Amino acid sequence: SSSRSSSSSSSYNKTQQRLPGAIIIGVRKGGTRALLEMLNLHPDVEVAKAEVHYFNVEEHYRRGLDWYRSQMPLTSSGQLTLEKTPGYFASPQVPERVWNMNPAVRLLLIVRDPAVRLISDYTQVLHNRLTRHKPYQPLEELLLHNGQIDPGYKALQRSLYYHHLTQWLDVFPKKQIHVVDGDALIRDPFPELRKAERFLKLSPRINPDNFYYNTTKGFYCLLSDGHDKCLDESKGRPHAPLSAQALRKLCRYFEKPNKMFFEMIGRSFSWC
Ligand code: A3P
Repeated sequence: SSSRSSSSSSSYNKTQQRLPGAIIIGVRKGGTRALLEMLNLHPDVEVAKAEVHYFNVEEHYRRGLDWYRSQMPLTSSGQLTLEKTPGYFASPQVPERVWNMNPAVRLLLIVRDPAVRLISDYTQVLHNRLTRHKPYQPLEELLLHNGQIDPGYKALQRSLYYHHLTQWLDVFPKKQIHVVDGDALIRDPFPELRKAERFLKLSPRINPDNFYYNTTKGFYCLLSDGHDKCLDESKGRPHAPLSAQALRKLCRYFEKPNKMFFEMIGRSFSWC
């Protein structure tokens, strides 16, 4: 975790880069950055700050495990190395590749209401296009075709959690994948962090006073050794508008896939 935690025994002797013992595999816009930064509060966790995109980008994958390892932070032997690449979750070639690296790796999947996730996904793409002065389409044009939800819309497909998770469960046992409630992480991060610590077999070192609600940002920010840190402005952006009618259609569209996802993980969420 932070280089300031000099009181912990794990902060010296960080001499080696190691392959990750745990990976946040997605979902895109689920709160992957928040989860990574929050787990990084733990003295026994070190994170790769940038998304690595090793298993999902051919050009990276071809470079092999030595390249992957070289993207990792320095750690001491007792520390857990963690990386996050949200693109892994929806890439069908990735689960087997991760298994081949380390069949015992622990996987974290942070999910969020799939309709809200889709709007957040659209908002991110819109923002990127606007900053590059590229043309863009309104959300409803992409989402609806003759008044019906267009199943071909990429951001819609990325919200079909059961479909993507199936491909991971073809390779990994259920107990190796921990699902984090991204909506709960926004409302109150600590309980989700405690559950993640337990899953990762870490001692309980993250505390409620590591978090405070920042009214200006409208989100929780992090406190550690007297330093405070909010996520950057690309996290917690105002969402592009969507009509109530289109939102209703979207929610109806997700009913079945959501139910299948809940059955798959043996747990349900109060999504729209
Ligand atoms: P929005 O920008 O749509 O609100 P990711 O890091 O996977 O791209 O996810 C981004 C999302 O993380 C944000 O989506 C935001 O809602 C969520 N998030 C969760 N906790 C947050 C926090 N403490 N600060 C900022 N964003 C947070």
